[in-house]
Amino acid sequence: MYFSEIEKLRREIWESFEKIEDLSQLENFRIKYLGKKGKITFFLKLLKDLPLEEKKYLGKELNELKELLEERLKEKEREILFKEEDKDLGLDLTLPGRSPSIGTLHPLTQVIDELCEIFSKLGFEIVTGPEIETEYYNFTALNIPEWHPARDMQATFYLKNRALLRTHTSPMQIRAMLERIPPLRIVAPGKVYRCDADIRHSPMFHQIEGLMVDKEVSFSDLKGVLTYFAKEIFGEKTKVRFRPSYFPFTEPSLEMDIECVICKGKGCKVCGETGWLEILGAGMVHPEVFRVVNYDIEIWQGFAFGLGIERIAMIKYGIDDIRMFFENHLLFLQSFK
Ligand code: PHE
Repeated sequence: MYFSEIEKLRREIWESFEKIEDLSQLENFRIKYLGKKGKITFFLKLLKDLPLEEKKYLGKELNELKELLEERLKEKEREILFKEEDKDLGLDLTLPGRSPSIGTLHPLTQVIDELCEIFSKLGFEIVTGPEIETEYYNFTALNIPEWHPARDMQATFYLKNRALLRTHTSPMQIRAMLERIPPLRIVAPGKVYRCDADIRHSPMFHQIEGLMVDKEVSFSDLKGVLTYFAKEIFGEKTKVRFRPSYFPFTEPSLEMDIECVICKGKGCKVCGETGWLEILGAGMVHPEVFRVVNYDIEIWQGFAFGLGIERIAMIKYGIDDIRMFFENHLLFLQSFK
């Protein structure tokens, strides 16, 4: 037996070791080299007939190879067992990882955030208040007495004891004024409720209320603030127009339209052939409202506005069915990343 034979054996062993894929191949391999009639065993048996020097040297080589091989076979066996376990679990660790899907802010939340940012820049404080209101805050204090037809204009959900779900964010005007000493500037975003449901109306929707009170606040200031807001949210080129309107808690009152973003004013289905889209109601705070909160109308003036968040979002993103916001289809929601 020569050293070169051991070298040949060593090469052969490692080459076929690499090819082992399962437990039965592993067992065959073990028998072939380490078994009673295996190649290493056979070589080891030859040792005893060799001269002492060679016996020592070749014996060391062979035993080292044997030990290393036994160790590597144990590792290999564990590796194979792990892989089979994974297979049993239906796992394939060689597949590329799935990237976790990242949530997004709801489009309405995004619009609310954007609106709050715009009005913050103009010095408006952001406040929130209760969705369950009393008739007093929702109607009476806003100059809508019981007999007033405006109570029917907003189909109201009543709760026990004449409590109600607020039909607009305007009660926040009263709450904000009672809690503060003028001058003040607030915006109040939040949920409102009306008994109404079709592609344009949802029984729950969102508004943002605005209120500014100071010693000199004019109708022009109101128009300026609203025009600025419209250009910020819909783009610099947005055209606006103001129409006279009526709300019991503002006088004079107005409604603001923006030029239809679909047809650019030519008239289409979305704007009902008018070329304009109504986006908000506003006006100068009614003296009766100031009287309710005890603000001296000889000193204080103010304007208020209220706008529907869904309407803004629908116009901004070209959505024609309000229900899309509340059905939570992932594809729809993810398109606002
Ligand atoms: N609250 C009114 C509505 O919901 C909107 C409005 C708010 C009008 C403030 C004038 C001033 O229709």
